[in-house]
Amino acid sequence: MIVCLCYGVSDRQICQLADEGACTVDQVTARCGAGGDCGSCRKTIAELVGDAAEAADQIKAA
Ligand code: FES
Repeated sequence: MIVCLCYGVSDRQICQLADEGACTVDQVTARCGAGGDCGSCRKTIAELVGDAAEAADQIKAA
């Protein structure tokens, strides 16, 4: 499933990055760009990598 439409990044790619040590949305963005454009996918990325702080921010912003 594509999580980030702006960069065409899938949940599998993000889980792979999480396995390689990316544990925040910003770290995922730095590695593949996902989350760095419109930002609408950041909540899903946060859930995939277990970034609780970012997920809380996204819930507050909603
Ligand atoms: S959908 Fe991921 S930055 Fe736009």
